[in-house]
Amino acid sequence: MAKVVRTKWVLLLVVLGVCFLVACGDASEVDQEVEDGVDSGVEVDEEANQSEQSDSLVIGFSQVGAESEWRTANTQSIQDAIADAGHELQFSDAQQQQQNQIMAIRSFISQGVDAIVFSPVVETGFETVLQEAKDAEIPVFLVDRAVDIDDDSMWVTFLGSDFVEEGRKAGRWLVDELADVEGDINIVELQGTVGSAPAIDRKEGFEEIIADHPQLTITQSQTGNFTRTEGKEVMEAFLRSDGDNIDVLYAHNDDMAIGAIQAIEEYGLKPAEDIIVIGVDAVKGAFEAMVAGKMNVTIECNPQFGPQLVELIEAHFAGEELPKRIAVEEDMFTMDQAADLIDSRTY
Ligand code: AHR
Repeated sequence: MAKVVRTKWVLLLVVLGVCFLVACGDASEVDQEVEDGVDSGVEVDEEANQSEQSDSLVIGFSQVGAESEWRTANTQSIQDAIADAGHELQFSDAQQQQQNQIMAIRSFISQGVDAIVFSPVVETGFETVLQEAKDAEIPVFLVDRAVDIDDDSMWVTFLGSDFVEEGRKAGRWLVDELADVEGDINIVELQGTVGSAPAIDRKEGFEEIIADHPQLTITQSQTGNFTRTEGKEVMEAFLRSDGDNIDVLYAHNDDMAIGAIQAIEEYGLKPAEDIIVIGVDAVKGAFEAMVAGKMNVTIECNPQFGPQLVELIEAHFAGEELPKRIAVEEDMFTMDQAADLIDSRTY
């Protein structure tokens, strides 16, 4: 009996020993395959993982601020496109302050991001920090606004609107609109942020067109910093100083035009009737004002170029040579089109 039990134990130990050896063999085979680079299920996953990691970029984005409907739509478009493509975003809102942008870009450089997306508040004063990004070999993508620097090797490409052309479109629309009107026309201008590309260029384009029409004169011009609040305040000042002699308001963006519309109404005049109102951006708020009969025209400035930007960044990392300037295509919308189009507007 004792002998039978001992024999059973011996058999059991032998079976367990064999199982242990087989299991060890399997594990060491897998380890060996991974080390040797031999194809196995484990290694395929590792490869996929590695390629996912290397395709995914860390992108630092220094945005101007949150001063307008346009800016909010632009931030959303870029954030969504970066997330949808599986890249990581480091976002910084400069609150319209150049110093904040310089600090943000320096921080992106010290973090060692793969790419920097940069929409400059103003055109000048970024040479040093852009040189630092270049020295660190981090590609910079300018979006929306340009910098006034001759050395274009400091950025890969500039993707944004043609602001001079937007100003020309506003000027041409006004000249056509007033083709049958005789006598002097007084225009007040609400400029964007002082020193910013859209403020400089939209003024230049508009003035270029009206220069051939001496009856059109800009009688007052001041910055409203692209915001509704300041647009309203400056329009109130224009009205206080010469309220009965203002024929046209040219605002460098819709937010300032919308603020100014409120000032015109509070002054006791009818916007779009007593004073022609021209804006830029074509945001939803402008369409609402046009449907309500309070604004005459808005020149489109399309903020939704996030997907195009991500394609350009990826193309750069794939080794493609990109043009230094890529313009966004844009339209113009008048009051009589607004009701039909308002529901299709996406910003
Ligand atoms: O740079 C684009 C301009 O900046 C938009 O027209 C304006 O609304 C924004 O604040």
